[in-house]
Amino acid sequence: MKPLDLPFARPAMDEAMIAAVADTLRSRWIVTGPRSAQFESALSQRFGGRSVRAVTSATAAMQLALEMLHIGAGDEIVAPAQSFFVTGNLIERSGAKAVFVDVDLVTRNLDLDAAQSAVTPRTKLLLPTHYNAPLDPAALAAFAKRHGVRILEDAALAIGSRYPDGRAVGATGDLVTFSFHPNKNMTTIEGGAIVLDAANEIATIDELRFHGIRRLPDGTRDVEQAGTKYNFSDVSAALGLEQLKHLDDWCAQRERLAMHYFRCLEGDDLLTPDRLPPRHNPGHSWNMFTVLLPLAAYGKPRKAFIDAMREEGIGIGISYEAIHLTSLFRQKGFQEGMFPNSERISRETVTLPLHPEMTESDVERVCAALSRLLRRKAA
Ligand SMILES: Cc1ncc(COP(=O)(O)O)c(C=O)c1O
Repeated sequence: MKPLDLPFARPAMDEAMIAAVADTLRSRWIVTGPRSAQFESALSQRFGGRSVRAVTSATAAMQLALEMLHIGAGDEIVAPAQSFFVTGNLIERSGAKAVFVDVDLVTRNLDLDAAQSAVTPRTKLLLPTHYNAPLDPAALAAFAKRHGVRILEDAALAIGSRYPDGRAVGATGDLVTFSFHPNKNMTTIEGGAIVLDAANEIATIDELRFHGIRRLPDGTRDVEQAGTKYNFSDVSAALGLEQLKHLDDWCAQRERLAMHYFRCLEGDDLLTPDRLPPRHNPGHSWNMFTVLLPLAAYGKPRKAFIDAMREEGIGIGISYEAIHLTSLFRQKGFQEGMFPNSERISRETVTLPLHPEMTESDVERVCAALSRLLRRKAA
């Protein structure tokens, strides 16, 4: 097998980033400290001055949000059936009941009408993912008001996304969490953040992310709510601060590459526009370029396609499996046929390579391989 010279995701990295990490290591202050605070305030600037708390991952940020909201047994959370496993896992771990709803086939965002119908008096939270397009902030705010629920926006894929009015995703809304995993639009190796407003909630996150410790005026420490340990490291922050400087340029390059994908795939009678992400998508940060494979025409399982692309040195991802069809949720009575769009995406989706150090000729190479393989197998 050829080495994978074109992975589906790859963090951009330069010497300034490496030097910033090395400087931090040399400083000996490597855990939470001045650089973490600087990183949080740089993010806060992007999010219109809202408060930001950086933690070890988006998963950690989302978990802290659920704990902060005291969500547990007897509560319900409405969430998309098509998102990363973390959505189902965290609901399950909180003790609440997951109430899944379907997503739109093209934007892959949660269907808000279906979410309205899923609300009950036990609903505490809506947990939508910003997927193939930014969620509509006005619709989310109206939903929260109408139903008296909190909203936690999973914006793991959306660091760098902007709304049509130019504001960054995260600059508005209720609770918003981001991921800085290397597959995302900027990285801190592992890392995540939560954006929030209320002083008491910020104080709770501060405590929960570091053992629940509260400093008392007499210099002693106390714990009221059992905390955990998700504090951010200054080494990660040093990398994040350098990465953040390039985020907008990288998103612009991602968009250029995405548009080139559309141009290259245009007119392909197998990859029709309904199988592609939304083309007119201003402000979208293009973390992924997802395609629904025409498996019937291809005549082979998706894995055969992924393996064949790998043979060409091209990495292909899968985002995501339908959460309600995991063993975890099948045991609770979820089954095929409940959320057709989520299930179809789960069966047919592949993620094509898209990262800012790619060139248009890389895109052409992917499209040529894709087109050739699909036709070869279809013939
Ligand atoms: C939609 C979504 N939400 C949350 C996460 C969790 O991010 P992290 O790896 O930073 O915990 C991911 C990770 O891939 C994701 O894709």
